[in-house]
Amino acid sequence: MPLSWVVEDPKEKNIYWPSEEMKKRAWVNDPKIYEEASKDRVAFWEKLASEGLEWFRRWDKTYEWNPPYVRWFVGGKINASYNAVDRHVRQGKGNKRAVIWIPEPPNEPVRVLTYNDLFLQVNKFANALRKLGVKKGDRVGIYLPMIPELYPTILACARLGAPHTVVFSAFAPQALRVRLEDAEAKVLVTCDGYYRRGKCVNLKSNADEAVKGTCVEKVVVVRRAGNEVKMQEGRDVWWHEVTEEAGGWCQPEEMDSEDLLFLLYTSGTTGKPKGVMHTTGGYLTQAYWTAKWVFDLHDDDVFWCTSDIGWVTGHTYACYGPLLNNSTLLIYEGAPDYPAPDRWWEIIEKQRVTIFYTAPTAIRMFVRFGEEWVKKHDLSSLRLLGTVGEPIDRETWLWYFKVVGGGRCPITDTWWQTETGGTLIMSLPGIGPFIPTVAGRPFPGTELTIVDEDGNPTDSGYLVQVPPLAPGMLRGLYKADEKYRETYWAKFDYRYYFPSDGAVRALYGCIRVTGRVDDVMKVSGHRLSTAEVEDVINAHEAVTESAVVSKPHEVKGETPVAYVVLRKGVSPSPELEKELKSLVREKIGPTATPERILFVPDLPKTRSGKIMRRILKSLLINAPIGDTSTLFNPEVVEILKERVGYSG
Ligand code: WTA
Repeated sequence: MPLSWVVEDPKEKNIYWPSEEMKKRAWVNDPKIYEEASKDRVAFWEKLASEGLEWFRRWDKTYEWNPPYVRWFVGGKINASYNAVDRHVRQGKGNKRAVIWIPEPPNEPVRVLTYNDLFLQVNKFANALRKLGVKKGDRVGIYLPMIPELYPTILACARLGAPHTVVFSAFAPQALRVRLEDAEAKVLVTCDGYYRRGKCVNLKSNADEAVKGTCVEKVVVVRRAGNEVKMQEGRDVWWHEVTEEAGGWCQPEEMDSEDLLFLLYTSGTTGKPKGVMHTTGGYLTQAYWTAKWVFDLHDDDVFWCTSDIGWVTGHTYACYGPLLNNSTLLIYEGAPDYPAPDRWWEIIEKQRVTIFYTAPTAIRMFVRFGEEWVKKHDLSSLRLLGTVGEPIDRETWLWYFKVVGGGRCPITDTWWQTETGGTLIMSLPGIGPFIPTVAGRPFPGTELTIVDEDGNPTDSGYLVQVPPLAPGMLRGLYKADEKYRETYWAKFDYRYYFPSDGAVRALYGCIRVTGRVDDVMKVSGHRLSTAEVEDVINAHEAVTESAVVSKPHEVKGETPVAYVVLRKGVSPSPELEKELKSLVREKIGPTATPERILFVPDLPKTRSGKIMRRILKSLLINAPIGDTSTLFNPEVVEILKERVGYSG
């Protein structure tokens, strides 16, 4: 029998605590750490920063707070690639596996990169980038799927001090272009193609379309699939060619703690994606320690975080966090259900994965496939499970716990955001408790609490972070300072950071996060703004205006539905519906595609012209509509009721 890492609460069914074995093994197992850290949070992080990372120069000032601007480890000098690779190699740990790569085609061999391999490739690619004209401070776009070259690419940027901006490889050319333009990227790294559900996706042709007319001067292409691509003379070069030619040592730049490490674009309440800025010293500190303590990383672990690198989860827990810890991480190129719904479980069995971190939407998909697919495999290597990205419901949590974890592994439900850089609310595996639907407690050294509309403490309301802010927090939005103030700080008068999530107090002082309170949707774990989808629909010549709202979905969590008002003289048709759907797919990507397009004569509006999304949402889920008498056009609600088949 494999060890059990949990025991059930003696009083409450389905609440779990770490077993003695887990406590013994865990880096942290004494709940006193919370109290101790909260006595002096700045001092707590200061200690962690010096113990976890190697600095070229120690900082002068640990924490600086000019609301709403935060700085950590001011004056400190550090390099991310040095900490993720060089120092392990110097300590004689270079033979350890850094990355295990599973290609999608089942007959293709697994590839492994050790820290020594990574060291050589990072240095070489950094030199190659330098030769292509990349200097400290220049932005580099990365449009790559989950392939091994991702790692030397990201870390080479960090080595040179060139902030990277990774764009999800399933994003459409238009979405890539907007981000490259905003970031003013000089170079783009992409690949020829990759495999998804057995088909080769030509990524290079997307990249070609995206960079047209932007400031991208050079495109570096990784050869992955061997499909035919057009290389543009003078602009495009092959990754392997420029790397082969380059020298094997590139001095890491001594970056200021507050120098930009990366930009990551995410959706807010407007159509334009926001460039979230993460700087070096604080982000690395939080990435290192949250990876180590939350996933309890030990030398023999194989850590699989299934997130794509295009999201923050991929950045922090499928790249920086594990690498800073000299851990072994696993990545998989393709679809979870290809060639069969047990692909993931087969990978866990074969590679002896010990820590598995995924999103509720993926688990819900596997629930539908049925547990027999899981049961075909020996998952006894698993020790710890994690979830992220959206609230997890009780049934899904219990299925994950029992079927995947065999009732032996704790589930750590980690709450965080692109903006927070690393996870901030969770249960630590050596402390617990593990409660379905409940994320847990704020990470030691951070304070998150629940307040009402006026900012007063309550048990059910808005989630907020109380300064001193965690070191990995965003430093702002790229070229959008007003937006930064408005989005995160204005609501509570610069006293608290507001993540736009609702929360309720749960047992044992834990926090249950209930989800977004703004117009941001989580579709299959992907963060999308309703406004982004509306902008695309509104750009169609047949459309006057539209409103997109989300509707609960059994697998995806949420799914967008669009109400569309057509121009006079244009009549609704199935063709037009198809056209609008494919427009969204083409401009943003498949996840954003509305499940339904409802052609309507008008949208319910307030007297000041604001679209009443609340009503549109209630119509879809058959919830009470409430008072409509204050609307500018209450009569339209009756028409819409009929159109959507409202029965509430
Ligand atoms: C939601 C993903 C409940 C939340 C790391 C947040 C969660 C948004 C959880 C950020 C969780 C993330 N429980 N909700 N464990 N984790 N969320 O930027 O609404 O893609 O604001 O970052 O996801 O999404 P993002």
